[in-house]
Amino acid sequence: MAKDSTRSVHGTERLDPSTGSVLAPIYQTVTFGFRKAGAVANAVTGVTDDFVYTRWDNPTTRILERKVADLEGGGACAFFSSGMAAISTTVLENVHKGDHVVATRDLYGETYRLVHDILPQFGVRTTLVDSDDLESMKRSIRKDTKVVYIETPTNPTLKLVDIRASARLAHSVGAILIVDSTFASPLGQCPLKLGADIVVHGATKYLNGHSDVMAGAVAGDKEMILRIRRMRKVLGGTLDPHAAFLVLRGIKTLAIRMQKHNENAIALAAFLEKHPKVRTVNYPGLESHPQHMLAKRQMKGYGGMLSVELKGTLRDAMRFTESLKVATLGASLGAVETLVVQPASMTHTQLTPEDRRRTGISDTLIRVSVGIEDAEDLIEDFSQALARL
Ligand SMILES: Cc1ncc(COP(=O)(O)O)c(C=O)c1O
Repeated sequence: MAKDSTRSVHGTERLDPSTGSVLAPIYQTVTFGFRKAGAVANAVTGVTDDFVYTRWDNPTTRILERKVADLEGGGACAFFSSGMAAISTTVLENVHKGDHVVATRDLYGETYRLVHDILPQFGVRTTLVDSDDLESMKRSIRKDTKVVYIETPTNPTLKLVDIRASARLAHSVGAILIVDSTFASPLGQCPLKLGADIVVHGATKYLNGHSDVMAGAVAGDKEMILRIRRMRKVLGGTLDPHAAFLVLRGIKTLAIRMQKHNENAIALAAFLEKHPKVRTVNYPGLESHPQHMLAKRQMKGYGGMLSVELKGTLRDAMRFTESLKVATLGASLGAVETLVVQPASMTHTQLTPEDRRRTGISDTLIRVSVGIEDAEDLIEDFSQALARL
């Protein structure tokens, strides 16, 4: 099989059959015309896979879906208008009234709200467990558990969840394992190959990589993705064809972007780890990371995400973020530019203060999405901002 960088550029894409265009055409259309009434009926009932209406399926989006299915090692993939559209549609397709869900406590804020606050409104009970505590996951999984939901590496504390072990636990009661792999990208880890049933991505992040498109992706086996697509038809979180084209363009540079993210992140993490004004650095690629051995086993690259706990107060941490000149204070990640956030006041306000404390989100924790700028410039920038504390 071709290597990651070749598959990121070419993947399953072919020259456009009618023009020879090397890029996927943008089918910016809502609907598709038919000459025979019978053909419409066949397409609507799934006898043929002709396109009918873009909320259901679109040729540009289908090219993107095949490419990401290939990168993830899944049978199929469905794209959405945002990561949260992908996550909520996938979860809602897989739980029913009376079911039980086990989820790790360290979740992206809106996912936390979905499983912690919204699912119970529909009669689905959720048990939250600590990400690095497989024993507690094992104790919480019951006969009526239908979904085990994990995020790894976690946002923003960069803990890891053992994907293979979580899959075994989920499967022991016939539940499925869903893994949010946004922080790793398909080139950082392949959860489906480690036993997960579904992998989800905020494709707004590394997959697209340029802070200019909202998108979400779900990959898994064909039958599962077919069901998720049917739910997408109802909930309506379909990706726009132009956005699909932009994500396809972003993926062409995924391999070289991820290589640079990995290199810059380890260089910045190593610098920060030695700095006297830093309490801890969380980065799976550091030997000091408590789960470094697990990172080596389940990740192909450690990615561009790290978090750093500064010494001092909330105000010190705020001053630090304001003093950065190359890095920007802004709530996203996985793009070419370095972005920082203070999770306690920005991305994780949905968590109760108790869950923030339990997951290690202190007031001085800063999450860094390390971009692809020059590593020396980034180190200099962080150094001058730390000097102002
Ligand atoms: C880990 C993780 N998953 C999912 C999402 C949601 O993605 P989106 O913002 O595209 O809805 C985010 C957003 O930051 C995230 O960090």
